[in-house]
Amino acid sequence: MVAGNWKMNKNLQEGLALAGELKQQVKNPACAVVIGTPFIHLASVCELLKGTPIHVAAENCADKDKGAFTGEVSAEMVKSTGAEYCILGHSERRAYYHETPAILKDKVELALANGLKPIFCIGEVKEEREAGRQNDVVKAQLEGSLFHLSEDAFRQITLAYEPVWAIGTGLTATPAQAQEMHAFIRSLIAEHYGKAVADDTTILYGGSCNEKNAAELFANPDVDGGLIGGASLVAEKFLAIIAAR
Ligand code: PGA
Repeated sequence: MVAGNWKMNKNLQEGLALAGELKQQVKNPACAVVIGTPFIHLASVCELLKGTPIHVAAENCADKDKGAFTGEVSAEMVKSTGAEYCILGHSERRAYYHETPAILKDKVELALANGLKPIFCIGEVKEEREAGRQNDVVKAQLEGSLFHLSEDAFRQITLAYEPVWAIGTGLTATPAQAQEMHAFIRSLIAEHYGKAVADDTTILYGGSCNEKNAAELFANPDVDGGLIGGASLVAEKFLAIIAAR
């Protein structure tokens, strides 16, 4: 899978223009292609991309079902736009909006209950890597939000390993660092759900992945694609990354 994460970029008209360019170019991709857009773009982008191989994701959903939560957008609402995926646990949500593993656990459950497939992000910050604690951090993130799920539910999850020190910084993990962590994550999944589930789980790499380094990252046996921020905002870069998968 190659998934874009537009974050808080592009107004509606700009977003539709980008989605339109991708629609023209993405005909028979060799992998699943997803674009994650702001909430207000979802319905229009889904309409535009109907019948194409491009799938649509929200970048978040509420941790509540429905009701008096002014300004929030529920998983049910996301689903009603036609979106199929929901990015959850992004490090920017964890850091700036104080989303804890417990909150993310609720979001994952609501997304799944409403038929959305979570793209769940995990990853350590710079200090944690420097202290050699990256495996413990990622393990705790998985245990805190996902490993309570049944096997069937877990099979709906796509994981994205995104070392926080690599996001938007131009500092990419080396292919060896990505492979090492992805293999570790797969081993944890195997411990909890067995080898078949672990082998079937899609684990994306994210963090300054671009059209120049994507092929090298994707060449690793445990790197199943990418979650792309900055480079997903320019059609030709995003297309080159899709071609690299
Ligand atoms: P980046 O963002 O590609 O701009 O580093 C990746 C992400 O945050 O998903």
